Amino acid sequence: MIALAEKERIVVTGGSGFLGRQVVAELQRCGVPPERIFVPRSAEFDLRDPEMARRAVEGAEMVIHLAANVGGIGKNREFPCTLFTDNVRIGTNTVEASRLAGVNKLVAVGTVCAYPRVPPRIPFVEDDLFEGYPEPTNAPYGEAKRALLVHLWAARDEYDFNGIYLLPTNLIGPGEHFGLGAHVLPDLIKKFAEARTKHLPNVVLWGDGSPTREFLDVRDAARGLVLAAERYDGQDPVNLGSSREVSIAELAETMMQMMHYTGTIRWDTEKPNGQPRRKLDVSRAKERFGFESQIPLEESLAAAIEYYERNVLRP
Ligand SMILES: NC(=O)c1ccc[n+]([C@@H]2O[C@H](COP(=O)([O-])OP(=O)(O)OC[C@H]3O[C@@H](n4cnc5c(N)ncnc54)[C@H](OP(=O)(O)O)[C@@H]3O)[C@@H](O)[C@H]2O)c1
Repeated sequence: MIALAEKERIVVTGGSGFLGRQVVAELQRCGVPPERIFVPRSAEFDLRDPEMARRAVEGAEMVIHLAANVGGIGKNREFPCTLFTDNVRIGTNTVEASRLAGVNKLVAVGTVCAYPRVPPRIPFVEDDLFEGYPEPTNAPYGEAKRALLVHLWAARDEYDFNGIYLLPTNLIGPGEHFGLGAHVLPDLIKKFAEARTKHLPNVVLWGDGSPTREFLDVRDAARGLVLAAERYDGQDPVNLGSSREVSIAELAETMMQMMHYTGTIRWDTEKPNGQPRRKLDVSRAKERFGFESQIPLEESLAAAIEYYERNVLRP
């Protein structure tokens, strides 16, 4: 087991993002002094460039690699090639630079979008990750993240490099992005807030509401990542989830009530649904490094709404 607090330098790529800010906070809660955590920002260390990746991880004992070009279904459909090339480059440059720099351990994150569209088993089991092509609306992003795992396996086989890989489900909670390309929950929050303010009779949502998603609070995800950083060195990918499956329709109804919007929902079935179901088998994370989610869905939703109202609506 690694004592994180004793590490001289931990580099957290993407440490300024939605998940990254919580990971940095969790590291500090575990006793890592702030001056030993380095967050390379994309403006100065664009990880799509191998030389900048080399500089970003220089002198690191551990790299927690979260940086990626990410977004919701709209962004994935509009920019599939950019999401593929950016994420392949960011991933492979970071792994290679870390290996060459003699980093002791790399903690990388994949995504639930890397799973086959309809895996052979539901809940999704890690061993089925390569048993089919991902949901087409997010396949380029998902494939780039699967390539990251393949690279880690290859580096382990050829160079004995210690890289671990975690697969978080959809993350929610405080600090969401509400701009263009937002994920499903911030998109719902924005739409209901606007409809409430403008007294609109209905809100139009993509698809038919039938797909299911599993949400994990971003603070739980950060705790899981840091536990894995401390306790897990295996080559097997590990799901990070909550095992609570909810349909988009159910989520939208709940959000409507929580946001006091009294109109109706209209489903635009011309727009894509995305992957039909998402539910992860979360037993491996518990077995290998003792992670279980703790924050209930309603609490995460309330935190996301509060964050929006404080920081986006009335900054
Ligand atoms: N959010 C989710 O629901 C979810 C679910 C599963 C997995 N994940 C994974 O979790 C990780 C973090 O996601 P997130 O939601 O926190 O994303 P985010 O808020 O958009 O943060 C992404 C971070 O990546 C950095 N980045 C982007 N392009 C970069 C580049 N070319 N060079 C260097 N840094 C770059 C950004 O740094 P700057 O701010 O400096 O530009 C930013 O801090 C990603 O790997 C994602 O695939 C997220």
